[in-house]
Amino acid sequence: MTEHTTFNDAEIAQTASRIDRPIALVGLMGVGKSTVGRKLAAMLDRDFVDADDAIEAAAQRSVAEIFEEFGESYFRDGERRVIARLLEEHDGVIATGGGAFVDPETRALILEHGIAVWIDCDMDTLVERVSRRNTRPLLRTGDPKEILTRLYQEREPFYSQAQIHVMSEDGPHADTARRIVEAIQAWL
Ligand code: S3P
Repeated sequence: MTEHTTFNDAEIAQTASRIDRPIALVGLMGVGKSTVGRKLAAMLDRDFVDADDAIEAAAQRSVAEIFEEFGESYFRDGERRVIARLLEEHDGVIATGGGAFVDPETRALILEHGIAVWIDCDMDTLVERVSRRNTRPLLRTGDPKEILTRLYQEREPFYSQAQIHVMSEDGPHADTARRIVEAIQAWL
């Protein structure tokens, strides 16, 4: 069921004018960080950037290729540098890869220079969403539900350090974006 909220365009614009740092979306693969991020940026009239896309552009390789050729710790080093740069260059919305906020230095950078928003989601919805794409190296090694359940348990203590926590329901991503604006407004 679609959630109806009372937050109108003027209230969204008012909240946007008070946000003085980039918003970094964190959370597991498949929660909709990129889609929600684009909608959130449009709502706030700010720019949007996807950290995985920026990493791929910098490395001239896909995320899957970087994992395959150089391994995960090399990817995390590049991810940390790229996110540090994006936090400096952008004042809009940054969608981060699912593991970024687990890295202690990347997490500290985001918490200091941005507003971290954890997009959380129930497991069945998540599994259904990730099954639509096969581009994620960490899900290629086994059963996606088992892997995501394990990652959720491992990462929840880190994701929960985000300043804002929002559930992504099985409805339109625009609803999630709107709830993020409301949660930020309440937190500011
Ligand atoms: C990862 C998530 C991916 C990507 C990489 C590793 C993770 O990003 O950064 O495959 O560790 O959860 P998305 O969350 O955008 O899929």
